[in-house]
Amino acid sequence: MKNKLVILFVLWALLLFMGAAGSEIKVGDDAHGTRKYKDFEKPQVCGISCHTDIYQQWTQAMMSQAYTHHWDEIEYFKLAVPHAEKDPIVAGVKAGCNGCHSPIAFLAGDTPPPEPGKNSRANESVSCDVCHTVTGFKGEVPHNFNFISEPGKTKYGPREGVKSPSHVTKKSDFLGTADFCGVCHNEKSSYGVWVKSTHLEWQAGPYAEEGVKCHDCHMTYAPGIPAAMAKSYPDIRQHLFHGAHDPGKIAGTVELRMHPDIREAEPGDKIKFTVVLFNQKTGHKFPTGSVEDRIVWLHVEAKDSSGKVYHLPVDKKGFAGEEYTIAGDALAYQDMGIALDKPGFAGVRREEVPMGDRIFRMPYFDPQGRMTIQQWNTKTLGVDYRFGPRETKIETFTFTLPDDTAPGFFTVTAVLNYRKLVKPVADFLKVPADETEIVRVNSHSTGIEVFD
Ligand code: HEC
Ligand code: HEC
Ligand code: HEC
Ligand code: HEC
Repeated sequence: MKNKLVILFVLWALLLFMGAAGSEIKVGDDAHGTRKYKDFEKPQVCGISCHTDIYQQWTQAMMSQAYTHHWDEIEYFKLAVPHAEKDPIVAGVKAGCNGCHSPIAFLAGDTPPPEPGKNSRANESVSCDVCHTVTGFKGEVPHNFNFISEPGKTKYGPREGVKSPSHVTKKSDFLGTADFCGVCHNEKSSYGVWVKSTHLEWQAGPYAEEGVKCHDCHMTYAPGIPAAMAKSYPDIRQHLFHGAHDPGKIAGTVELRMHPDIREAEPGDKIKFTVVLFNQKTGHKFPTGSVEDRIVWLHVEAKDSSGKVYHLPVDKKGFAGEEYTIAGDALAYQDMGIALDKPGFAGVRREEVPMGDRIFRMPYFDPQGRMTIQQWNTKTLGVDYRFGPRETKIETFTFTLPDDTAPGFFTVTAVLNYRKLVKPVADFLKVPADETEIVRVNSHSTGIEVFD
């Protein structure tokens, strides 16, 4: 009897101790240096002979390149690290960028990690073992890598009772929630501003309410086997993580239709073309994520029957901050001069798209009130003129037919374009061209009959 009591007591003490140890796992900035690289399995170990399909999908997704991808390397090493060394307010990003981009380097305290060319383990980026050993997050809102990482023999996944020859498998409901994605897809700047809020945008929108989560669009379900030798299931999670870097994902995101207010006109007449734009595809805003870099713009052009082309600038609506949503030739991004040791740097063009085109974006401002692409140096946000999930926006283009308009059919075409990084910044920092390629989201043409 006494022995039993002692055993019970020891068990109780052990449970208490384990509970305390669990709650002592540090998250976010505090987790820096709390683990070793060798605590995490290499992705090849998971993927070469067992999870072959999932592994090959992952190698093609940005998750496997979050540390090595050219623009990430340039922004981290050319801008963020030198800036962090000069300005105590943003000093944390030297380590912090990798809390999301190379979590194992961050947890191992390897700051800054060797450059991608050195082929160190930091290059594993967001690897299998990063995600499959996350057990939850700490705090109210998932953001800034506040995930609880418990690397070890146990791998967490979506299914009960799975046996693996190489690890213990446990079901985790957490991995299947949007909160799990939110730990890296929400980010607060050093100034306390939400500079990335894909998860929060989703949460506030219609999809969260309907129970449609991130996985349903970015890790879709299909019949197959989760591993070699495993039995098949009707709903294997596809590790696609396709987004901004997949032109097919961008294409069709917003649908657009345009109509004139009259169908017949003469030179000198004023015609109003109305474009209706409907975001039918994203579960969050569009653009989302690295909003400081991304640009979506609407270009409208007309052609008369002789082939003469006219560019139609958008009609102003008059809302506060609208100037940032109409293409111009202003300079911006002067704060790149801090990291680049160029005091008084004049900046580069804010965007390089035809003047007068409507831009769907949200400008980020540095502490001096200048537009910035450095999300860590963002103190305020400007007007949010992006497409909400399932939102419809209307733009009008009022145009007076020039006296020399050729009679015949006058065709008007609206094109919605997307670019991952504003071009003048990419040119200035020598970011490879695929980051600035123009992706056509959608287009539509209409027209009127012109008489003499
Ligand atoms: C960004 C995080 C992330 C990364 C990286 C990742 N996974 Fe997953 N994985 C998930 C999530 C989320 C699920 C599904 C969880 C759910 O639906 O409950 C999943 C599911 C799985 C499943 C179960 C599939 C099924 O439907 O039965 C396997 C096996 C798996 N992952 C293996 C891997 C391997 C191997 C790698 C690396 C090549 C990898 N994962 C990389 C997040 C990730
Ligand atoms: C209804 C489908 C849908 C849902 C739900 C959804 N997304 Fe998306 N997502 C898209 C589409 C379409 C795109 C491509 C257009 C774009 O870049 O916004 C996209 C793009 C992205 C991008 C790329 C952004 C960039 O510019 O780099 C990220 C990251 C992303 N989604 C994460 C998430 C996360 C995290 C969730 C859940 C909180 C989520 N998505 C929910 C459809 C969805
Ligand atoms: C440990 C951090 C982390 C977690 C957890 C995470 N992501 Fe990501 N994700 C990233 C990083 C970092 C990138 C950026 C890669 C890059 O540098 O372009 C990214 C990129 C993406 C992209 C954009 C790819 C593109 O084409 O631009 C999508 C979509 C995405 N993640 C979806 C998800 C979904 C869905 C989940 C949850 C199931 C999730 N992520 C969980 C860190 C994470
Ligand atoms: C809270 C997590 C998190 C932190 C911290 C973070 N990032 Fe990211 N970063 C992401 C995610 C997720 C994406 C990709 C999807 C998107 O655009 O939101 C991304 C995208 C990027 C991209 C764009 C990649 C492309 O090809 O378009 C760059 C560059 C980048 N991050 C650099 C940095 C730098 C530099 C820092 C530190 C100052 C940093 N990130 C801090 C999560 C994070």
